[in-house]
Amino acid sequence: MILVTGATGNIGRALLGELQACGAGPLRGLTRDAARAAFPDTVEAVVGDLANPESWVPALEGVRSLFLLSRLGPDADIIGAARSAGVEHVVLVSSITVRTHPHLGPADENLAVERLLQDSGMAWTILRPTQFASNALMWAASIRDGVPVWAPYADTGLPTIHPADIASVARVALTEPGHQGRTYALTGPEPVTARQQVEAVAAALGREVPFTEISRGEAHARMAEVFGVEAADAVLDVTGGDVNDELLAVRDTVERITGCPARPFRQWAEENADRFR
Ligand SMILES: NC(=O)c1ccc[n+]([C@@H]2O[C@H](COP(=O)([O-])OP(=O)(O)OC[C@H]3O[C@@H](n4cnc5c(N)ncnc54)[C@H](OP(=O)(O)O)[C@@H]3O)[C@@H](O)[C@H]2O)c1
Repeated sequence: MILVTGATGNIGRALLGELQACGAGPLRGLTRDAARAAFPDTVEAVVGDLANPESWVPALEGVRSLFLLSRLGPDADIIGAARSAGVEHVVLVSSITVRTHPHLGPADENLAVERLLQDSGMAWTILRPTQFASNALMWAASIRDGVPVWAPYADTGLPTIHPADIASVARVALTEPGHQGRTYALTGPEPVTARQQVEAVAAALGREVPFTEISRGEAHARMAEVFGVEAADAVLDVTGGDVNDELLAVRDTVERITGCPARPFRQWAEENADRFR
């Protein structure tokens, strides 16, 4: 039995589809709301909240492999419960910032989760993806409403990754030998700037999308209202304010592991155009 957490999310939904397609059953998807999950028929939906460990421990019964998003709940308890339930292998989604920006709070938290897993006694595979193409969904409401999209650092190109590529790597790690005890930095196939991302969405929609570059200060004021000051600083640093060669590097890990080239941002934009209409 494979249990997928974050099963209704960008990575998890694609992962369940891939696992089903390659016959890797039985499969279980964790969600806080089974009515909205709409999993494929062959996937067992289990309701649980990782922030409330008791609510989801039953989901671990009979599970041998676990796909885990970090920091959705008390990770020490989650990893401990998996170990007690007899889980043998955990594929963890961490972040490339563990390597590129270890001084930032979220990166430090991810590193702590990685260490908990490595010390757990279970086999592990750690995925460290760079920023997701699906982050562009933060512009969806503005684009739908015809309001200009804003972003700072408009011409900083980062090797943004399609979440389905993270899912593909996870599927291989969960179903094929040779990936236990490995840590993989994952990126897309090329650098893409915020301006180019908006252009790709506009091309997929077949219409103009107005775009405005704003300063770090303006962006910080808007983001801090939603995420808080520290998180806004961290996001602004890793999206342009404090980039380094490690963050800018395009890696071939997706292709080496899956045998398929990493998907470009424009493919994500085409596949998700309806979400901006
Ligand atoms: N975005 C980036 O650029 C980036 C970069 C590096 C790493 N990451 C990591 O990637 C992960 C996000 O992956 P994603 O984009 O695939 O997810 P997503 O689309 O944001 O969806 C979040 C998923 O987590 C589930 N979830 C949220 N809170 C939960 C809780 N308390 N208990 C159980 N499930 C919960 C949701 O399920 P339900 O609502 O159905 O319960 C949903 O399936 C995060 O761990 C993030 O740190 C993101």
